[in-house]
Amino acid sequence: VSSTGRAPADVLIDGEVIKAVLSPGSTLFGTDVAASVDTVIDATGKYVIPGGIDAHTHMELPFGGTAAIDTFETGTRAAAWGGTTAIIDFAVQTFGERIEDSLAAWHGKASGNCAIDYGFHQIVGDVTPDSLKAMAKLPDEGITSFKMFMAYPGVFYSDDAQILKAMQVSRDTGLMTMMHAENGPVIDVLAEQLVEQGKTDPYYHGVARAWEMEEEATHRAIMLAKLTGAPLYIVHVSAKQAVEQIAGARDRGQNVFAETCPQYLYLSLEEQLGAQSEQYGHFEGAKWVCSTPLRSREEGHQDAMWQSLRTNDVQMVSTDHCPFCMKDQKELGLADFRKIPNGMGTVEHRMDLMYQGVVTGEITLERWVELTSTTPARMFGIYGRKGVIQPGADADIVVYDPNGHTSIGMPVDENGKPTGKKHHMNMDHAAWEGFEIDGHVDTVLSRGKVIVDNDQYLGSKGDGRFMKRGLTQYLT
Ligand code: URP
Ligand code: ZN
Ligand code: ZN
Repeated sequence: VSSTGRAPADVLIDGEVIKAVLSPGSTLFGTDVAASVDTVIDATGKYVIPGGIDAHTHMELPFGGTAAIDTFETGTRAAAWGGTTAIIDFAVQTFGERIEDSLAAWHGKASGNCAIDYGFHQIVGDVTPDSLKAMAKLPDEGITSFKMFMAYPGVFYSDDAQILKAMQVSRDTGLMTMMHAENGPVIDVLAEQLVEQGKTDPYYHGVARAWEMEEEATHRAIMLAKLTGAPLYIVHVSAKQAVEQIAGARDRGQNVFAETCPQYLYLSLEEQLGAQSEQYGHFEGAKWVCSTPLRSREEGHQDAMWQSLRTNDVQMVSTDHCPFCMKDQKELGLADFRKIPNGMGTVEHRMDLMYQGVVTGEITLERWVELTSTTPARMFGIYGRKGVIQPGADADIVVYDPNGHTSIGMPVDENGKPTGKKHHMNMDHAAWEGFEIDGHVDTVLSRGKVIVDNDQYLGSKGDGRFMKRGLTQYLT
């Protein structure tokens, strides 16, 4: 299955790369291909797809006095289990830090530890003359995109003047500007007022982060990008009104792109409000505290996000994987939702969750491949090597069984006892507990090596290599 069609085929792999895609039973130089190879993986009745590419993950991200609980080792292994064969994570420049030093530090965390290939976007957290110069040199390092935050004042936040300067570098170099589009200063005031009224439960995180402030920031980012001529990619879009802003800009011919995440397709603010557990009471909702927040189903955001994937107003799906345990991490916000570290763990489930959208008829099989692999590759400059099954491409391949089944989470038996099955991410809970998928990842190959085979992990730490990326291949 590719982003443009499907056909029965044999995929011939030699070492790390795909050599040929052949009609079944083909002969090459007079010999039967299938009979002359060392190993045959029988994928009869299953889908053979390019491995998933998750272009938005945060392994080991420092946040709110703690750090995301998946390391590059555990997070990329979990990704592999779920049919993702490449991630693009974020190197974080903190305030006062040199960009070069931040990038070196993130290489240090990832190098030799990853199960699958990985790249970096650069987070620009301090716009100085030196930073702007360093940004212009990032493409030489294989870093061709950077993220800025209109949210989180005092942490990663950039104001409009700083964004403008960075976008001018983006225009001049071709670096993709990635934007966290939420009006942070306004959200922080709303959050403070809610806490003053005693509204401290996790649910109020989503109340404070009003969709109006996602729409406003999305609009502002689009206008700044228009003014400067920078290509713009809005991350983790959740509000239907933000999609309208993006669609409008695209209709006017602007290079504006967007991703959404499975949580904004499947989960809602109402469900977060209703969440309760014996251990945590209403604080159970902390599992789904992420930014942008879960949106109201009554207001129709989830339907609008699925629709945006069909119309290509939103072009791809990433996870924004940023996992925290409840114990000692999310718990930091027991008395005040503002102190709950923001993020959810999804890197293992993205391919399955999006495949379920094929089963329910939200998207086509081809669109599934496009949203999860082909477009991420084109958007971030690795297409040809990744995101497609064709001669010369890396043999990053997933065999997906549409007749298999996947129970997500940490399932318990009828007596409430753990079954021993567990997701492979490091969190102590499953934000996707109870999701049932009518499909299953059977076999995963990373550059020709079988790393997952029928619920067995065969890879090892250090299998994954750093990907130097080219400029985006997605401009109109
Ligand atoms: O809640 C989130 N999204 N945490 C990770 C940081 C970010 O804004 O992407
Ligand atoms: Zn963000
Ligand atoms: Zn993120």
